Amino acid sequence: MKIALVGYGKMGHMIELCAKRDGHEVVATIDTFAPDASVKVSEGDADAVARAVKSSGAEGVIEFTHPSSVIANVKALLPLGLPLVVGTTGWNDKHAEIAEFAKNVGGTLMTAGNFSIGVNMFYRIVEEAAKIMADFNEYDVATWEAHHNQKADSPSGTALEIARHVMKGYPSKTEIVTDAFHERPKANQLHVSSTRCGNIPGTHKVFFDGTADTIELTHTARSREGFAVGAVKSLDKLNKALKTGKLTKGGLYGWDDLFN
Ligand SMILES: NC(=O)c1ccc[n+]([C@@H]2O[C@H](COP(=O)([O-])OP(=O)(O)OC[C@H]3O[C@@H](n4cnc5c(N)ncnc54)[C@H](O)[C@@H]3O)[C@@H](O)[C@H]2O)c1
Repeated sequence: MKIALVGYGKMGHMIELCAKRDGHEVVATIDTFAPDASVKVSEGDADAVARAVKSSGAEGVIEFTHPSSVIANVKALLPLGLPLVVGTTGWNDKHAEIAEFAKNVGGTLMTAGNFSIGVNMFYRIVEEAAKIMADFNEYDVATWEAHHNQKADSPSGTALEIARHVMKGYPSKTEIVTDAFHERPKANQLHVSSTRCGNIPGTHKVFFDGTADTIELTHTARSREGFAVGAVKSLDKLNKALKTGKLTKGGLYGWDDLFN
């Protein structure tokens, strides 16, 4: 595929490497600041982003920019009618609005809070494990995550998604608690705790703990490569799914729509 990258930062560069390795062609790298981008656009000029994508001859677009830019970029890009994969996070509250916009203009996008294939498989493994363990009241369950000290928020979106999958399989846990406890946790509370330290790319754990033993499930990210591989694979799948009619044009899709 001929791919245009909107956002040529840490992820954009990694996606370019992975896309080329998979035999795709990167026809444009579009950014507001990156000195090595093939096209520079002024900050906030989403129409210029869309014009650059159109003139590049791209067959698909991958957007990894910033939460403050993503909505304008997506609204400018969707009318082009190209399959669009959005990795930028921090706009979950706008998903419904963008899904409606996509339907109206006939554009199609796919987004995921975490594009790592391993993490998306970890969600499923955790949910199955929770279903198995929920039958045994000898065990309790909790989750924990660790990230580098540059990350500005906690818990990670991935940790919350893991917690939601635990709760799907474990009906007695009905409330996520991310704060410190100042009293004993209630049986329905699922503790989601976080550590920020050094350079950790991202570690997520689920514990099932009983009096006799403990089971720990761990996902450990080694680098950003996993996100980039998943984003390229997603664009390829979305493109094929639209061509074969597996997915209909005009809407917002998620990981499970493509990979389940
Ligand atoms: N979904 C996932 O799996 C996943 C994984 C990693 C990062 N992310 C998210 O992706 C985003 C980017 O991450 P990053 O590590 O590459 O950040 P980064 O800061 O290294 O790169 C972002 C780039 O986008 C550019 N940019 C900002 N606004 C722009 C605009 N309007 N048009 C064009 N370019 C613009 C910036 O100049 C910068 O070069 C963040 O929101 C991050 O949380 C998501």
